[in-house]
Amino acid sequence: MLADAPLPGEIHRPARLMEAMRYAALGSGKRLRPFLVVEAARLFGVEGPGVLRAACAIEMLHCYSLAHDDLPAMDDDDLRRGRPTLHRAFDEATAILAGDALLTYAFDVLADPATHADPAARAELCLGLARAAGPGGMAGGQALDLAAEVAGRPLPQMAIERLQAMKTGAVLRFSAEAGAIAAGASREDRAALAAYGRALGAAFQIADDILDAEGDDATLGKRTGKDAGRNKATLVAALGLVGAKRLVGKFVDQAESALAPFGARANILVAAARFTGSRNH
Ligand code: IPE
Ligand code: IPE
Ligand code: MG
Ligand code: MG
Ligand code: MG
Repeated sequence: MLADAPLPGEIHRPARLMEAMRYAALGSGKRLRPFLVVEAARLFGVEGPGVLRAACAIEMLHCYSLAHDDLPAMDDDDLRRGRPTLHRAFDEATAILAGDALLTYAFDVLADPATHADPAARAELCLGLARAAGPGGMAGGQALDLAAEVAGRPLPQMAIERLQAMKTGAVLRFSAEAGAIAAGASREDRAALAAYGRALGAAFQIADDILDAEGDDATLGKRTGKDAGRNKATLVAALGLVGAKRLVGKFVDQAESALAPFGARANILVAAARFTGSRNH
């Protein structure tokens, strides 16, 4: 996908841009979002290259969000996945453009007939990802995250939960739902996966904020201890570490309950929710 050779309809792929896209996308991330796509589809007995393509599309979009999140204008970070952030390894303009290109290419991959034989399923995947990542989802959540830094007063808990559901939860929720869409699952089963992904997403960002407070740079592969200094709107700031950990437990339980209709078939997704709550990286 991220090879230098242009696809039909493309003119030319600049080598340095492609190198930057590969640097951003192929580092040592956890691949949680593609894992959710693949395992959600597998829950309905569907696997194969089409599902993997959908999973890669969402991971590319995630990697774009990390590259832009790390820019000096946003979180201004120099370490990601255990190595220099994209703009440090290349330059700011290249990091912006590689992010733009990963975002755009994610939709190219979803819209391609190789991803799903049914055009309606492809359209649903594109629309769902756009809604999860756009102004009312991730991009909107990132805007609220940055606005909170300079607001001068802390946000109430519900506002922080909504901000986090947008900046992080929406794409995680959609990852689980995308697997169900790719597998042609019923509306009801899709809703169950979406509820699971929503709760897992909430737990995931609180865990990220706890790790910022308690984790170490070497294990996480990114700088820790930054959120408090930047006045980030986190549930650690609002509730303290004990309160934040209790809330993670509540969301992990919620994620598990959403999978109850699937019984033991969903064990691996249940384990993913538990990992999210107890992870150290
Ligand atoms: C980091 O996501 C950004 C957040 C949404 C908290 P991950 O912790 O999934 O990052 P990688 O993909 O494993 O590097
Ligand atoms: C990032 O949240 C969320 C997105 C990239 C959309 P953070 O800013 O907390 O993520 P890290 O801690 O830099 O990975
Ligand atoms: Mg951020
Ligand atoms: Mg950040
Ligand atoms: Mg963080």
